[in-house]
Amino acid sequence: MNSENAIQRFVLNLEKQGLNPDYALAGLAHLKPLNYWEYTQVETLLSLQNPRTHFKDETVFILYHQLTELVFKLMLHEIEQLSTSGFSTQLWLEKTDRLIRYTQLLLNSFDIMKYGMNYDEYAQFRTSLSPASGFQSAQYRKIELHCTSLLNLVHVSKRKTLSSKSLVEELFPFLYWYEAGTHPQSGKKSATLQQFETKYQMELQLLAKQKSGQTLDCLLAQAPDVSADLVHKLREFDRLFNIDWPLVHLQTAKHYLESKDQSKAATGGSAWTTYLHPSYQKRTFFPLLWSQEELTHWGS
Ligand code: HEM
Repeated sequence: MNSENAIQRFVLNLEKQGLNPDYALAGLAHLKPLNYWEYTQVETLLSLQNPRTHFKDETVFILYHQLTELVFKLMLHEIEQLSTSGFSTQLWLEKTDRLIRYTQLLLNSFDIMKYGMNYDEYAQFRTSLSPASGFQSAQYRKIELHCTSLLNLVHVSKRKTLSSKSLVEELFPFLYWYEAGTHPQSGKKSATLQQFETKYQMELQLLAKQKSGQTLDCLLAQAPDVSADLVHKLREFDRLFNIDWPLVHLQTAKHYLESKDQSKAATGGSAWTTYLHPSYQKRTFFPLLWSQEELTHWGS
């Protein structure tokens, strides 16, 4: 494209948006040339690692959590586009492929956690982290709330006794992850859960209300025609996110918290050995895409 054509298209584009091209063109003359570090904000990004101890591997721990949060952001970026555009097989295939790729990136890199930290260093710096826990990842919860109806996130033992018509506020205390933050006998909430509620409960409940009837599983159920290829890809994403990632995460927790003949309490204080297993949580985003048999043996 020659430069005259490019300018003409630029002007037309501005006019289409109701903007005055003269101002925009004058403004262009004052722009500084772009550089990599300002565009990517890399210096800000690299300034965000603040270990609480002197142990070198705490930096590995922080960076890998941050890397995961960035990937969660990529996933939400795709999922939000799916939930706001009308259903189109082509778009859903494309976005689901991306979701699979991002989840595989997390799975394939989890060894950075599992084998990439010195066991004794981890055992020491983790004592400074309580009650913080990955349990408090708001983006993880947002992915869930975008992907599936709230009732599918209710603890499996309560799912049949509650209704999808219940209010968000009524369903929330029965979400599967509330159990991890609640003492089974006293019913007292852990510090980890209390912190999380104070910071995110309102935002998450608002999102659940906005997404009611618009989550990916609902949009799928309303779609006129869902191709076998799309079903295959959605099942793969569901399996990777809700079975394979929880399993690799659980194995990593076991590696650090249950080896050397010791069983350590989690920083978030949950009964994690049971709770984190996908066959216990039985959490799936698209239950309609799985047979009863597959759901019964979910994660086993
Ligand atoms: C050595 C590495 C890790 C260990 C030992 C570990 C341990 C745990 C434990 C025990 C829990 C249960 C809640 C609690 O009582 O604290 C948990 C939850 C969680 N962790 Fe990790 N974790 C590790 C790495 C990560 C990483 C890298 C992420 C990425 C963000 C992460 C994200 C999560 C999430 C999202 C939950 C909630 C899962 C759910 O509710 O099913 N964890 N983790």
